[in-house]
Amino acid sequence: MDKQKKIVSMFDDIAKSYDIANRILSFGSDIVWRKRACERAFEIYNNDSIERIVDVACGTGDMLGFWEQTARKKGIGVDDFVGVDPSEGMLEVAKEKFPHFSYVVAFAQDLPLPSEAAEFVSITYGIRNVVERKEAIDEFYRILKPGGVLVILEFTKRRKQNLMDNIVEFYMKNILPRVGGMVSGNKDAYEYLPNSIDSFLTTEQLIEELEAVGFTMEYVKAFSFGISTLFIAKKV
Ligand SMILES: C[S@@+](CC[C@H](N)C(=O)[O-])C[C@H]1O[C@@H](n2cnc3c(N)ncnc32)[C@H](O)[C@@H]1O
Repeated sequence: MDKQKKIVSMFDDIAKSYDIANRILSFGSDIVWRKRACERAFEIYNNDSIERIVDVACGTGDMLGFWEQTARKKGIGVDDFVGVDPSEGMLEVAKEKFPHFSYVVAFAQDLPLPSEAAEFVSITYGIRNVVERKEAIDEFYRILKPGGVLVILEFTKRRKQNLMDNIVEFYMKNILPRVGGMVSGNKDAYEYLPNSIDSFLTTEQLIEELEAVGFTMEYVKAFSFGISTLFIAKKV
């Protein structure tokens, strides 16, 4: 099986326990990071009427839920929420939780959506899993309308500089795989997480890749000692 297929099959396996493992392992802080991403993106776009928000690698659909909740709170009308993911197992859970959104089984690097179809594209904790990343970033650019906003939340590669960095590394490599393994019954999947972060990009490298495709960076913010980073970029 090729690398990309293996990754998707791993998410199929852990789909049912993904949400509970996520909340436990992030101590619920992913909720704060997601809300902040939606709020900041709406402020940057600054328009009350949105045709479409596409969440790529949507998994079990949580980010779509936060997009909807934040839009409602701000009085912003959104016609269509679309979730894209190659894992049918993850999408099955998303459909149960949010049956009113639209879903497409597809890879980020080959989106079956028309050009200039969306005002917002998001990908949260997903870009690290995309083997053909450059092609995926091209696709995000293509499907965004001019002035549209790309939102990425990701665990970027960290340089170990202080005690806190070492504590975080210990948690990610020793505690997280054990707890994730117990909750999901699949320890390999939670060993994959710290390894995939180690072989991913630093914040600066991801910014370079986004700018190379034509995005303009609007906002970059590291949360919780740099564990999770928010990137907001615009197609100008
Ligand atoms: C860690 S989960 C994140 C799910 C969700 N976005 C969230 O924030 O909870 C990663 C997701 O990326 C998806 N994925 C893996 N490879 C992908 C690819 N090439 N294109 C799009 N999605 C991909 C997986 O199926 C999985 O649902």
